[in-house]
Amino acid sequence: MNAAIIGTQWGDEGKGKIVDKLAPFFEYNGRGEGAHNAGHTIIHKGEELVLHLIPSAITHLEMICLLGSGMVIDARAFTKEIELLTTRGISLHGRLFVSMRAALITPRHTAIEKSRKNLGAGTGGVGTTMRGVGPAYEEHRARTALRVGDVTKPDFKIKLTHSLLETPELTATSRAEIPALVEEYMKACETLALYATELEPIIANALQDRSSFELEGAQAHNLGVNHGTYPYVTSSSCTAAGLCEGLGFPINRLDSIVGVAKAYTTRVGGGPFATELFDEVGQRIQTIGREIGASTGRARRTGWFDAPVVRQAAITNGVTELALTKLDILTGFSELKICSHYLLGGRRYDHIPWDMNDYANVEPVYVTLPGWTEDISSLRRFNELPENCLNYIRTIEDLTCCQTGIISVGPAPEQTIFRVNSDFFEAMDEH
Ligand code: IMP
Repeated sequence: MNAAIIGTQWGDEGKGKIVDKLAPFFEYNGRGEGAHNAGHTIIHKGEELVLHLIPSAITHLEMICLLGSGMVIDARAFTKEIELLTTRGISLHGRLFVSMRAALITPRHTAIEKSRKNLGAGTGGVGTTMRGVGPAYEEHRARTALRVGDVTKPDFKIKLTHSLLETPELTATSRAEIPALVEEYMKACETLALYATELEPIIANALQDRSSFELEGAQAHNLGVNHGTYPYVTSSSCTAAGLCEGLGFPINRLDSIVGVAKAYTTRVGGGPFATELFDEVGQRIQTIGREIGASTGRARRTGWFDAPVVRQAAITNGVTELALTKLDILTGFSELKICSHYLLGGRRYDHIPWDMNDYANVEPVYVTLPGWTEDISSLRRFNELPENCLNYIRTIEDLTCCQTGIISVGPAPEQTIFRVNSDFFEAMDEH
């Protein structure tokens, strides 16, 4: 059994929790794209643990975790996370591997990103996480990147120094600081080098042994560079196919593609957001849902569930079941709305138009449903959910053309309801 877990909205759907909950069923976990722009929150031994780069399954000590070639890795962020995990008593020896083919994020990329007006948080800006992700992917595509494998070579320090000296965005203000930046980065690379390896034989042997893989998506379909709300996107491919490609995992070996969707919508950074709420309802969702970015600490924008957003993600990615998260946050609202489609100039849209000027002007058409007041956070069976809550789920299923397999009713791993009576979910339920 191999599964990919991907985001269907604009990130922050709760992929970390779902990956963590499903982890005991798998032997390998792999990430294939993105960087430490991601923020995956899990509860480990009763305490919150936020991971950015290292797979969320790392706390499952019997699992082998892989960081794939399609990622961009900042050695400093990697080392910081290794230190955090070590402090939390999580042993990493012999079970964490980083592809030598992955490109590096260095101080060059963060400096370039900071200098770009269109990437900042100002009016109309993309509002990136400022982690250097975009510039690192640009360089990789230009075929001039330094890669993880390079840190193991004797000439790496010279190459890094040259690269930083050739960065006007860096030298204009702090040329004298470059030796210190190089030293700091080289120190972090000592740790990264311990985990750098070629993933191909590991994956080949695991496939031959029929070991099971859990592939962990980062960001989400609508943040992907090819299918997302361009230019308000990240620089990687966030589809299940992109995830397989980035890890180096054969797509025809996937059995299940779990699309994670929050029971409402959130977005961090710039870009149109058709169902965004600017009133006290949006504020209430933001507060109760603790909608603060796990990576940047920015308040997330909130809005009603947008079915076209999730439906298109489900179609493009071949989602086999939805994991609906944070349903408990909607308890206590007298009524709830779900956007069924958009209207623009008399035309009906069931997907996000390609042009963000059009998307900014669509009129969302809503289905209004009665809310529920019962506390659902301690429920563990689908049929125990209040009728209005079941109705809300069924409406989402109808509008997204997807079945819900997993429902999350709180942050703790046990606050999870498995619904579908397939072998896969029955096995999950036993854990
Ligand atoms: P970048 O990935 O830092 O280049 O940021 C591009 C856009 O993607 C910005 O709007 C970010 O807020 C958003 N973004 C990147 N990673 C995540 C994530 O993990 N969750 C939510 N939004 C993200």
